[in-house]
Amino acid sequence: MPYQFDSLPSRRIPYTTNKWSLYPKDVIPMWIADMDIPTAPQIIAALRKQVEQGVLGYELLSKHLLETITARMKKLYGWEVDPQSIVYTAGVSNGYNIAARVLCSSERGYLIQTPVYNEFHETHEKTGLPQLVSPLVMRTEGRRIRYEVDFDDFRIQTQKAAMFLLCHPHNPVGHIFNEAELRRMAEICLENNVTIVADQIHGELLLGDAKFTPLAILSPEIEKQTITLISASKAFNVPGLSCAFAIIPNVDLRKRFFDTANGMSFEISSTGLTAAYVAYAGRADAWLRALRRHLTDNRDYLLKFVDENLPGIRITRPDATYLAWLDCSELNLKPTPQQFFHKQAGVVFSAGEKFGKEAGSFVRLNFGTSRSILVKGLKRMRKALASE
Ligand SMILES: Cc1ncc(COP(=O)(O)O)c(C=O)c1O
Repeated sequence: MPYQFDSLPSRRIPYTTNKWSLYPKDVIPMWIADMDIPTAPQIIAALRKQVEQGVLGYELLSKHLLETITARMKKLYGWEVDPQSIVYTAGVSNGYNIAARVLCSSERGYLIQTPVYNEFHETHEKTGLPQLVSPLVMRTEGRRIRYEVDFDDFRIQTQKAAMFLLCHPHNPVGHIFNEAELRRMAEICLENNVTIVADQIHGELLLGDAKFTPLAILSPEIEKQTITLISASKAFNVPGLSCAFAIIPNVDLRKRFFDTANGMSFEISSTGLTAAYVAYAGRADAWLRALRRHLTDNRDYLLKFVDENLPGIRITRPDATYLAWLDCSELNLKPTPQQFFHKQAGVVFSAGEKFGKEAGSFVRLNFGTSRSILVKGLKRMRKALASE
């Protein structure tokens, strides 16, 4: 079945605030990480059936859903996950915030690699736990930027940490860590008795021919010291359904995680479970393949446009996600690049400084949209820069 991603519904609904409705009609929002693209028709059909049944009651994880998730892990990565090692959470952020409460203390905090997803920073504000930072190192090749781990610094920071919060694939830089990088980071964590929390929310959102390896599959020792967080939310564009899963093979760690989560008395969204089931059962895989082609084409178009029309901007080439990271430092845009493009171009990006204090001259661009909206946004950027 051919899938089209070019006719998008209006999200300017009056009773909630979202990416679109937050701004006036003439603004193009390319900030928060959800896509303008409707989810897979197979998920919509299952949700419609659930709504039409008329009862939206409490639903819990079933053995069938757990086995569906483990079958997905086996199919994608050859990873044998015990269904009993899966705990639900009300989203991936909920999962790592629970993990931080379980693992960290005022003496030993959690480690992040900046620039990184803004809510990783907020864990510190939410829990009061110390945050340690090992910045990724930016490398420039012509108009392209990419990031690497500084392993010496990583080792030093790890010695003060109880938890390493890994973003894999990485938001905002779109990097998929290769096996050598993962293994080296994991071994340093094991040496220092640091538990790894691997946020894999973008793990199925691969571009081009990119391949993804979960950190936990590298060895039984690494698996035992890792909490892996997965969700259908990004790849299938259902983040508003607040449903994620923590894979915790270590029995003791799982019990501590479960007890802390249980103490917070949250329930899982029943519609989220439905979407997860359809996604993990593979019923929307053809749609996902088509979506990945669309996002890959958008990425390639974006890079070409930036290279040819936006001199002074350098950009990542993401291997996963629908997020690009733009270095505007050569342009010295005032007061900040984010505010410049908002005011002068009518395009809203995520401000770089939210991802790390050294990233004020960057913006994050969300290309999870139709080609026509992407083109419109880019042309507005070109015009605003030309009149600078
Ligand atoms: C890396 C990463 N983790 C977590 C989240 C949020 O996930 P959830 O809505 O399931 O809490 C996002 C959303 O953008 C993200 O990019």
